[in-house]
Amino acid sequence: MARTLQYADMDKMLSLSKRRGFMFQSSEIYGGLGSTYDYGPLGVELKRNVKEAWWTSVVTERDDVVGLDSAILMHPKIWEASGHVENFSDPLVECKSCNRRYREDQLETVKCPECDGEFGDPRRFNLMFRTFMGPVEDTSHELFLRPETAQGIFVNFANVLNSSRKKLPFGIAQIGKAFRNEITPGNFTFRTREFEQMEVEFFVKPGDDDKWLNDWVTTRFQWYIKYGIREENLRLRRHDGDELAHYAKDTYDIEYRFPWGWGELEGIADRTDFDLGRHSGASGTDLTYFDEESKERYIPYVIEPSGGVDRATLAFWLDAYDEEPDGESSRTVLHLHRHLAPISIAILPLSRNERLTPTARNVYDLIRRSFSTQYDDAQSIGRRYRRQDEIGTPYCITVDFDTLEDHSVTIRERDSMHQDRVDITNLVNIMRDRLDHGW
Ligand code: GAP
Repeated sequence: MARTLQYADMDKMLSLSKRRGFMFQSSEIYGGLGSTYDYGPLGVELKRNVKEAWWTSVVTERDDVVGLDSAILMHPKIWEASGHVENFSDPLVECKSCNRRYREDQLETVKCPECDGEFGDPRRFNLMFRTFMGPVEDTSHELFLRPETAQGIFVNFANVLNSSRKKLPFGIAQIGKAFRNEITPGNFTFRTREFEQMEVEFFVKPGDDDKWLNDWVTTRFQWYIKYGIREENLRLRRHDGDELAHYAKDTYDIEYRFPWGWGELEGIADRTDFDLGRHSGASGTDLTYFDEESKERYIPYVIEPSGGVDRATLAFWLDAYDEEPDGESSRTVLHLHRHLAPISIAILPLSRNERLTPTARNVYDLIRRSFSTQYDDAQSIGRRYRRQDEIGTPYCITVDFDTLEDHSVTIRERDSMHQDRVDITNLVNIMRDRLDHGW
């Protein structure tokens, strides 16, 4: 479908977000807490649907991936073995005049952008948040909030292998919170200090890793297109050698063209046997795999598609936004994929007439059992259609006075605005079919 806008305007999106309840500044009534956001009634549904679409694609529809939900707090030795205590840092510089701090590798000038002051010497700043377990606050009780969900998967490799009886190649998927004390967060929910990741660690025989890396890059790229991001706003970027993380042999980023420029949505990395090897050594637990076909024992290699839930949610939301010409004015519409839209179906009685209300409420009760549904009877029907378009609701069902006679309702499609009339008896099946297959 041809779109009017190539990019969403960030100011308009922030206003839509607040007005309709997608994302809010966290702790707003106390002046806000920098770089943290809360998902409102519509945002939480959108984000849940993004996670569900990911889980369906990487776990439910595959025979070779199983799920996991590991704890955020983990043994501190994990972060030593993984290399995060030593390497998970950014170069930080502080202005000698105004004491503002910046990431040195993101600066375009040698002087402070705020006051033109001189910087002190750069130092490495570890991004992991620290906390204490139990009532004693000393270094022996110090823990980290996990900066990635991946390590919870690696340390459960043997548990999952033994309990699920999987054979290589197979993967473990997890969605969960991660925390990074970013020096320069920003761009709304793009870079925050608390965020969610959706990660797969896919274990393969050494030597098969290049093939599986390519396979996952294609699969994951296509997933963003399937759920509605325009292909021209996506690109793949391979990491240069000096950019690779301390654990990676090769990495591709899937990037989205955000209104402020290209930004990473997901990285797909070949982590080799780095993590399982390090945890084998540090914990003293054998994390090798016995290959019954080749009769060899080895530490598997790992391919890791690692995406951000908040970044994916933001990209689907921004890319869906359009303002279409509509006579003298324009229509704001979110062309969200029907499986991502916060509300699937809106039930709209033609008016608040007391003869219509009981029938409209019955239709609502029928539909809400199976689909995410909203009932709206305030203001004119035209304005209510526009309100649903603006939040991306794919279908509106209108109950009018003919419904009382012929037991039929009108279904209106968001994108084409096409309307057709169907019998209430078949309504649930019709809606299921349309939501499964689209228009
Ligand atoms: N386990 C590998 C790993 O964590 P990463 O590239 O550091 O790799 C993976 O992070 C994804 O997590 C990124 O592609 C991004 O979508 C998301 N992410 C990372 N830092 C983030 C932040 N500060 N705010 C929001 N999302 C973030």
